Amino acid sequence: MLEKLAHFDREVIPERRMHAKGSGAFGKFTVTHDISQYTKAALFSQVGNECETFVRFSTVAGERGAADAERDIRGFATRFYTTQGNWDLVGNNTPVFFHRDPLKFPDLNRAVKRDPRTNLRNPENNWGFWTNLPESLHQVTIVMSDRGIPKTYRHLHGFGSHTFSLINAAGERHWVKFHFRTQQGIENLTDEQATELIGQDRESHHRDLYDAIERGDYPKWTLYVQLMPEADAATYRLHPFDLTKVWSKKDYPLVEVGELELNRNPENYFADVEQAAFTPANLVPGISVSPDKMLQARLFSYGDAARYRVGVNHHQIPVNYPRAATLVNTYHRDGAMRVDGNQGGVPGVEPNNFGRWTEQPQHAEPASAAGAVADRFDYREDDDFEQPGDLFRSMTETQQQALFDNTARAIKGARTETVEKHIANCSRADPAYGAGVRKSCEAIGAL
Ligand code: HEM
Repeated sequence: MLEKLAHFDREVIPERRMHAKGSGAFGKFTVTHDISQYTKAALFSQVGNECETFVRFSTVAGERGAADAERDIRGFATRFYTTQGNWDLVGNNTPVFFHRDPLKFPDLNRAVKRDPRTNLRNPENNWGFWTNLPESLHQVTIVMSDRGIPKTYRHLHGFGSHTFSLINAAGERHWVKFHFRTQQGIENLTDEQATELIGQDRESHHRDLYDAIERGDYPKWTLYVQLMPEADAATYRLHPFDLTKVWSKKDYPLVEVGELELNRNPENYFADVEQAAFTPANLVPGISVSPDKMLQARLFSYGDAARYRVGVNHHQIPVNYPRAATLVNTYHRDGAMRVDGNQGGVPGVEPNNFGRWTEQPQHAEPASAAGAVADRFDYREDDDFEQPGDLFRSMTETQQQALFDNTARAIKGARTETVEKHIANCSRADPAYGAGVRKSCEAIGAL
């Protein structure tokens, strides 16, 4: 009994600080178009290549037991088990993010999570934060639009969001944005539909994904890239590493790459989904990052979170292990729960006289001059209102009305000054956007 109780007492591991509620599934990725001229990654060496994948979808603000059908961003974290090791594309269902200074990330999460005193969600904490960061309006407009509550995880697009890079065998670099487009079509819920659904089923996204896979109705996404030649970064009219902006598809059209299919539910949720530890630092030669400071911060934060949440040897857990790699090399040794033989009696010293554990300069990336000024505020003064304005103007009247009403319901409870500040930001994007939000706020007493 003591053994049983003692184990039981330790069964819960910390939840992810954000994206705590999620669903995962295995599948495969197939290369359908040739991009080998842009990347030397073995995965993309030829059309027809396949690799096993694992995807975890999530909501962001809610805790591990939160309802799925909430107005929120959705996480779309994809792991490719390639022959060269794991490549993780840890993205969202939106192409942009709320801010571009990584120092603000803990604040963003406190803003959308619970108030320290009441332990309730607090519109003032949330909207006070957003309205003081005008660059968040683009993302806020998406979340408040009809895309803010996807119907299921199958009916949404996925985006790497950041600018990443592809490097080819000649050492040439292209900046790249990744887009997964759903083959199921985009479907969303209204606030009213979501409220009703949550009353009946708090696990609606999870159930939908699980059931679809069980009945053999495998969800699929098409992967596209936008490719920017390295030199364009210096002259593109927008800052190429600003996570609050998209690249126009007219400037950099979508190039088709492959297909992602999810076709297997995990046998055990805890083993595979709860213990999954993604990190944007899981890269393979030929696919890399950019000077985007948000991405640079993430390179540290995820591994660090995994060491805290799962343990220092989290990479040995099967879902995290680079199981398709032909050769697994790591400098890591020892640590709690090292269970793979710990590289036996081989001395872990580099450099040494035996050619072991040697550095591999062939995988070093070509030097880059982009973003040479290492300043926290190294961004040009781009217009933060043009793109949310364009997005607003691309909506139908019905969609615009939904945006006004969703915003009013979400902001209700924030101080009048905060509501006015948001309306002022919206008006800078488009006067009709500001006027519409004002009218909806007045109609429900949010102003
Ligand atoms: C989860 C940090 C921005 C997508 C997490 C976690 C941390 C984190 C610590 C929990 C990881 C874990 O416990 O396993 C950060 C920081 C950011 C940032 C410091 C910016 C400075 C972003 C952005 C995206 C994103 C821009 C999408 C483009 C995700 C996803 C998860 C996640 C999808 C859940 C991964 C899973 O399913 O296990 N983030 N994040 N994050 N983040 Fe971020």
